Amino acid sequence: MTARTDSARVHDSFRRSLGSYHAEASVQARIARHLASLLADAGAPNAFDRVFEFGAGTGHLTGALLDRFTVSELTLNDLVSECRPYLAPLVGDRVSGWSFLSGPVEFAPLSGPYDLISSASTVQWLDDPAALLARLANHLRPGGWMALSGFGPGQFAELAELGATGAAPHYATVAEWRGLLPAGVSLVAAEERSDRQHFADLRALLRHLRQTGVNGRTGGAWTRGQLAAIEDAYRQRHSDGGKLRLTYAPVYLILRKEI
Ligand SMILES: C[S@@+](CC[C@H](N)C(=O)[O-])C[C@H]1O[C@@H](n2cnc3c(N)ncnc32)[C@H](O)[C@@H]1O
Repeated sequence: MTARTDSARVHDSFRRSLGSYHAEASVQARIARHLASLLADAGAPNAFDRVFEFGAGTGHLTGALLDRFTVSELTLNDLVSECRPYLAPLVGDRVSGWSFLSGPVEFAPLSGPYDLISSASTVQWLDDPAALLARLANHLRPGGWMALSGFGPGQFAELAELGATGAAPHYATVAEWRGLLPAGVSLVAAEERSDRQHFADLRALLRHLRQTGVNGRTGGAWTRGQLAAIEDAYRQRHSDGGKLRLTYAPVYLILRKEI
């Protein structure tokens, strides 16, 4: 863990990227689909009565879950209130009752018990994930499920090595997550795997970061000369076939509350 999250910066960065996020965030789309399939493979039922999803964004995980599971009542949350219009058509008439809570999940007025609590590519932004997990577990039905994904310490390792700022505060391994679980919640399945993206040049890579809202300010303070020097260093150390490499390091957790 590093410095505390500047939640205004995180909010502004994701809000600004909303128009481009869904199409540009192809890695997060794959992560969301994989998380939904891990949940099914872990033995979750085909239907959930009450579901809460936080950090829903433009709905990559929401869509993946609704493609696989029947949900009777769905509560979606995101820090950014402008996510709602992206989520509404995606939920459509697939769920009879759904609602949206905007603001930080840490303070969301939860009304459990839920049968499933889910979130993709968001927990890395939390300052105190253990406290949130404990709070969420209190709103989970005995036998209920949690499906979460975040990122491990290898996330954007290339940028970190070049001294870029703007990383999320909580990149954690499965082993570290295991140490944060509240009593009565067990890890049913977990996975760490990386996904490499490639970009023609640094400008394209920085545009990708801006359009997905992650590490939103990376490069913003670099002068033209610094950018050129950084691109040279990046190309020397982290390129494949002439293209700049960027590593995503997703971490998947399927948890269950004891009965
Ligand atoms: C990388 S996006 C992931 C969106 C979506 N789950 C997906 O898989 O594409 C992270 C989302 O988490 C939201 N977020 C960040 N911190 C949050 C917090 N404390 N509470 C609720 N949402 C948060 C951001 O606004 C953003 O929409």
